[in-house]
Amino acid sequence: MSLVLIALSLALTRVASSVPPHEEVARMARFVVNKCDWASMATISTHEPVKGQPFSNVFSISDGPPGNGTGTPYMYLTHMEISVQDLQVNPQASLAVSLAQSSYCKNHGFDPQSPLCAHIILSGSVIQVNGSEASAAKDSLFSRHPEMADWPTDHNWFFAKMNISQVWVLDYFGGVKKVTEEEYYNASQRCESQHKASSHTNTLD
Ligand SMILES: *[C@@H]1O[C@H](CO)[C@@H](O)[C@H](O)[C@H]1NC(C)=O
Ligand SMILES: *[C@@H]1O[C@H](CO)[C@@H](O)[C@H](O)[C@H]1NC(C)=O
Ligand SMILES: *[C@@H]1O[C@H](CO)[C@@H](O)[C@H](O)[C@H]1NC(C)=O
Ligand SMILES: *[C@@H]1O[C@H](CO)[C@@H](O)[C@H](O)[C@H]1NC(C)=O
Repeated sequence: MSLVLIALSLALTRVASSVPPHEEVARMARFVVNKCDWASMATISTHEPVKGQPFSNVFSISDGPPGNGTGTPYMYLTHMEISVQDLQVNPQASLAVSLAQSSYCKNHGFDPQSPLCAHIILSGSVIQVNGSEASAAKDSLFSRHPEMADWPTDHNWFFAKMNISQVWVLDYFGGVKKVTEEEYYNASQRCESQHKASSHTNTLD
């Protein structure tokens, strides 16, 4: 029993230590986006009775392998999908991702709305990707969402990405912090040991 507790607390320490310091907001944004397998995506609805109103829906995302993401969330979409129909009219969208998707916030007693439970909002537009970028998107997505390979072949699936214009970070008290697209992509998951740490923690989520 005590061995189990020791193992558990070691595991929790490892998750905690892999989360970047809250002051490094761009790095935090990259970390959370890479950590999350899905996002809530809001579009401007084209469907009655909520035409013109925000419409939020769940999508599987991947920016690459755990611990080595590109920062760009890719998605596997079909025009048969209600939100994708909105994007055809207006590609502008907002993606929200949160560490509440992992065990981290629950284990630390952080409510999902607490800024200590880091959450990120990406503003931008969703655009189809083609050619070699589509192949990269496929590798990113299918490795983290193996079921996608079996989705119905008659739905005309395509690969898309969030073309990020602005990043909003809630990771500590004091209000939302803005990160530019340039700062976001400049922030790498710099240190090799962090790559290892975060790929370990994924199995704990
Ligand atoms: C991380 O991804 C890049 C391509 O985006 C690749 O060149 C590199 O080898 C990867 N590193 C690891 C540790 O997997
Ligand atoms: C990919 O192809 C689609 C369909 O031909 C086109 O609408 C879209 O702009 C292309 N995307 C990029 C990033 O070039
Ligand atoms: C991506 O977003 C930027 C604004 O942040 C915009 O200027 C650019 O045209 C967009 N790219 C595409 C292919 O839609
Ligand atoms: C890019 O990253 C480097 C090293 O982390 C940092 O010193 C620099 O200020 C960053 N530049 C921008 C525009 O964010």
